[in-house]
Amino acid sequence: AVIRRADYSAPAFWIDSVHLTFDLDPAKTRVLNKMTLRRNPDVSVQPLRLDGESLNLARVLVNGQGASFKLDGGKLVLENLPLEGAFELEIFTTCEPLKNTSLSGLYVSNDSFFTQCEAEGFRRITYFLDRPDVMANYTVTLRADQQKYPVLLSNGNLMDSGALEGTGNEGRHFATWVDPHKKPCYLFALVAGQLVCREQRITSRAGKEHLLQVYVRPGDMDKTEHAMHSLMASVVWDEARFGLALDLERFMIVATSDFNMGAMENKGLNIFNTKYVLANQATATDADFSNIESVVGHEYFHNWTGNRITCRDWFQLSLKEGLTVFRDQEFSMDLCADASARAVKRIEDVRVLRTAQFPEDAGPMAHPVRPDSYIEINNFYTVTIYEKGAEVVRMMQTLVGRAGFAKGISLYFARHDGSAVTCDDFAQAIADANPDSALSKLLPQFKRWYSQAGTPRLQAKGSYDAAAQTYTLNLSQSCAATPGQEAKEPFVIPVSLGLVGSSGADLPLQLQDGSTSERGSRLLVMTQADESITFVNVAEEPVPSILRGFSAPVLLDFDYSDAQLLTLLAFDPDPFNRWEAGQRLALRSAIQLIADDALLTGATPLNDAYIEAMRSVLRHPALDAAFKELVLTLPSEIYIAEQLEVADPQRIHAVREAMRAQLASALAADWQWAFEAHAPNGAYRPDTVSSGRRALTGLALTQLCLAARDSGDSVWPGKAYQRFKDADNMTDRFNALTALVNSGHALATPALAQFHTLFKNEELVLDKWFALQAGSCDRGGQVLPAVRQLLKHPDFNLRNPNRARSVIFSYCSANPGAFHRADAAGYVFWSERVLELDRINPQVAARLARALDRWKKLAEPYRSSARQAIERVADKLELSNDVREVVSRALAD
Ligand code: ARG
Ligand code: ZN
Repeated sequence: AVIRRADYSAPAFWIDSVHLTFDLDPAKTRVLNKMTLRRNPDVSVQPLRLDGESLNLARVLVNGQGASFKLDGGKLVLENLPLEGAFELEIFTTCEPLKNTSLSGLYVSNDSFFTQCEAEGFRRITYFLDRPDVMANYTVTLRADQQKYPVLLSNGNLMDSGALEGTGNEGRHFATWVDPHKKPCYLFALVAGQLVCREQRITSRAGKEHLLQVYVRPGDMDKTEHAMHSLMASVVWDEARFGLALDLERFMIVATSDFNMGAMENKGLNIFNTKYVLANQATATDADFSNIESVVGHEYFHNWTGNRITCRDWFQLSLKEGLTVFRDQEFSMDLCADASARAVKRIEDVRVLRTAQFPEDAGPMAHPVRPDSYIEINNFYTVTIYEKGAEVVRMMQTLVGRAGFAKGISLYFARHDGSAVTCDDFAQAIADANPDSALSKLLPQFKRWYSQAGTPRLQAKGSYDAAAQTYTLNLSQSCAATPGQEAKEPFVIPVSLGLVGSSGADLPLQLQDGSTSERGSRLLVMTQADESITFVNVAEEPVPSILRGFSAPVLLDFDYSDAQLLTLLAFDPDPFNRWEAGQRLALRSAIQLIADDALLTGATPLNDAYIEAMRSVLRHPALDAAFKELVLTLPSEIYIAEQLEVADPQRIHAVREAMRAQLASALAADWQWAFEAHAPNGAYRPDTVSSGRRALTGLALTQLCLAARDSGDSVWPGKAYQRFKDADNMTDRFNALTALVNSGHALATPALAQFHTLFKNEELVLDKWFALQAGSCDRGGQVLPAVRQLLKHPDFNLRNPNRARSVIFSYCSANPGAFHRADAAGYVFWSERVLELDRINPQVAARLARALDRWKKLAEPYRSSARQAIERVADKLELSNDVREVVSRALAD
């Protein structure tokens, strides 16, 4: 059934308090739920309809008396409830955690109990009003075998614990937790099992003491330091930047290996995928360290943006997710040592947006940041809600300034703390706190970012009048139709702009009205479909640097000449656009080559000017290694495909490989220099500077091995193998292994075997081992049979989402050159896995189903065979709602 935002109505009942008692048993857990409810006086008198799913109902009491009830399509319906005042409802149910492979609700992982309630998992634990605008006080008692489950955790503070008395309770114990804050049920959590924890006490600025804990399996304690440091940094940052202090005596993070997503912000008891907690230098890469920092920050920041103020309904999901992603991005940037590292972080975030969100916005699953309807809410935990949502918040900050934004956040909490609100409420608070800002003046139009799907396209044209010394920029915006939205109204687009002169510096920006900005950027707030701006006293023809820092999530067209792009690449004071200029140059060559048949005749894809520009970046004395690595990395195959009307994945792959090969050989001496000049120095630290050095040496090694493959030389593969064996950290070790595997050198085989032996007991490292092989460069179709072999490997387990992702998603979603096969075998593999996974875990299956989102863009024969594969899935009668929604949207016209 379709759920619509317009159909929202307030709940007919409020739940004031909930007492939950769990008798935890993997096969059959008993749940006693005692609630105090009352009618919502604003809503007409009607029966109470409680959500429930996969529950066995044993008993219902109203005010202590047996009561009549109905079960209606899974809902528990109670009529004849008291008209006035509060009443007590007691519901006794059982559920089967061991059989719960969906990982939603209460489930078992490695003999421990965990919960995941967002979005609608609480109804798999007990009957309830499972909607975020019903906020209650929780008291939770957990009872379980003391030996098997020594640690019993739930939200809030531990009130009581001890042995259970009486017959039948031998060897059992209990713990009672009280959460001091009201919360929606999606923030409920419990954990029970054999866990150990790292503890840290901290004192807030306000002088309050807090206990921070990170719980992991025994044996993983040596991987908890970075998560704890990230948590401490998060606590400090939120208080310093936004005045938001920790409101709990105790804040716990628990790691589990079986988790559908990254992590969950349950009040006071965050539950994390182990991937985003566990790290030490031997097992985790720099990317892992930095992801852990962001995810720990993200979940911690939800404590205010999400938990203290939550969503009225799930259409408002971006209220908490977009805002919290923005906050975690800002957190990571504020932890950067300098402006260059901040720019690197920004480029990385934009890369994710453009390679994942832009395609989503252009495909069958396109939806506004605040959707109007859904079938399965779990399908809407998307890059649009999260990453585009964060860009929308970022544009608000751009329009009101950093200090103005902090004021807006304060007003947001002053108005809405403790309640469940909408995206409108948020935008209103930011605008109202800044009454003179552009945001305040343009608010209704600005909010089109929430209501209109699709990526706006900004077309810019520049003209220089040498006689008048003026430079005019004409801008026009448009946005393609998306499912259900034919025509779009103009957006408010903040365009940060500079004019770069021939000396490489910014020219002063002076308008006809006499207003001047110093040399540097100026913010132009575009509101119309077409606008133009003229700068005066422009002494020479400038190169415009448009959308600096990626000031709006749009596609920008400007007819740059190669020479202009080379100027920006060499000099743009804005590091984002400096990087962007290099990407545009590479993209341009790629697109030309894909279109003509020059590649087939063996032409070199990249021109000399580009190669020389790359050489000067690589050798540049002042640029950071991390930035160099980004500039020297070619646009991804997915990004290239998005720029084309019709995409032939094999041609794209071949062209990009040819470009990589040319860069490898043409810059061989420079890569060698880079590898040697950035040799490991000192003890491993995952900071931005040293991880940048490792990233650049990793790329250099990959390129040197690639060049060696073409020349038949084995010096560099030998060095890579040596690095693989000697490295004192996972980043260098894994980069060396990747260089060997992706160059197809014979040493890859022993290295992969040794890697497996070394790390056979480290599941997160084994995930990397699987992912590397499933994602490796295809040369003649060898990857698919290898992937099929990996599914038979004794360490493969389809039930574990991380492992399933490491093999299946790495192949279907992250390896286009191997997945899109002319014989359609990749798509057959995909449809088999979607159906197989759907019987185990619909959420994970639906994510995989989205790997063929962009099938309509594919060239033949891929397009037709992809369509057939989707139809094979859609033809299945027994499909989850999750997968059904994805494939029917993919096939709709
Ligand atoms: N709120 C979590 C986060 O952003 C995501 C949990 C979503 N889980 C799900 N099964 N839909 O950190
Ligand atoms: Zn989140």
